[in-house]
Amino acid sequence: MARRKKIYEGKAKTLYEGPEPGTLIQYFKDDATAFNAEKRATIEGKGVLNNRLSEFFMNGLTAIGVPNHFIKRLNMREQLIRQCEIIPLEVIVRNFAAGSMAKRLGLEEGMRLPRPIIEFSYKDDALGDPLVPEEYIIAFGWASQQDLDDIVALALRVNDFMSGVMYGVGIKLIDFKIEIGRVWDGDFMRLIVADEISPDSCRLWDIESGQKLDKDVFRRDLGSLTDAYSEVARRLGVLPTNG
Ligand code: C5P
Repeated sequence: MARRKKIYEGKAKTLYEGPEPGTLIQYFKDDATAFNAEKRATIEGKGVLNNRLSEFFMNGLTAIGVPNHFIKRLNMREQLIRQCEIIPLEVIVRNFAAGSMAKRLGLEEGMRLPRPIIEFSYKDDALGDPLVPEEYIIAFGWASQQDLDDIVALALRVNDFMSGVMYGVGIKLIDFKIEIGRVWDGDFMRLIVADEISPDSCRLWDIESGQKLDKDVFRRDLGSLTDAYSEVARRLGVLPTNG
């Protein structure tokens, strides 16, 4: 295999130079990390499932006109994506209390929030991705007020789409994280959904049983992560087959 230029290696994915300028190849690894990489494991098949699931969700977003980085899936573990400049924020949308929000506010996990709540963390592993108010984001120049308004609008569209799709297969979308990138068409800058959308970055609970079908299975040692992600893929009709 020809050696490709590695652009970036993250915890769960690696980015390589793409075949055309302005493109990258996103490779999904089997590595799982939690608690800012204090807990690590290799979970066979996770990368294959997340490659398929992210393809499925990004294609759905494209179909409803939500701009995103996905171009096409190349093989079991790789997809061609549009290169963008990632805004250093984790954009988190919450429909029900869980995880860090439940802990911070002493809320019972699973409590429906009065409305979807969006929060931002500054993407910095060394700092543990601290929660930041909009004031910081604008003052430090990570995004403008206009960018933030556009990011909130994008995040709410992703939330409506994802909540509806998951509801259709008996799954409640508790919360999720997306990342946003900038692309330029000439002088015109656009914001697009980037990174991945998969059970690594969402909380997904079975509506009937409350069973967790997301990365909390790994974080909290609740059983097989591959089984949980396979169940999500099976319900959505996204089954990893060869190619
Ligand atoms: O841990 P917390 O409750 O803040 O996570 C909220 C949502 O964002 C969860 O769905 C989690 O999987 C996702 N998340 C993520 N990457 C992070 C932090 C959170 O995908 N670094």
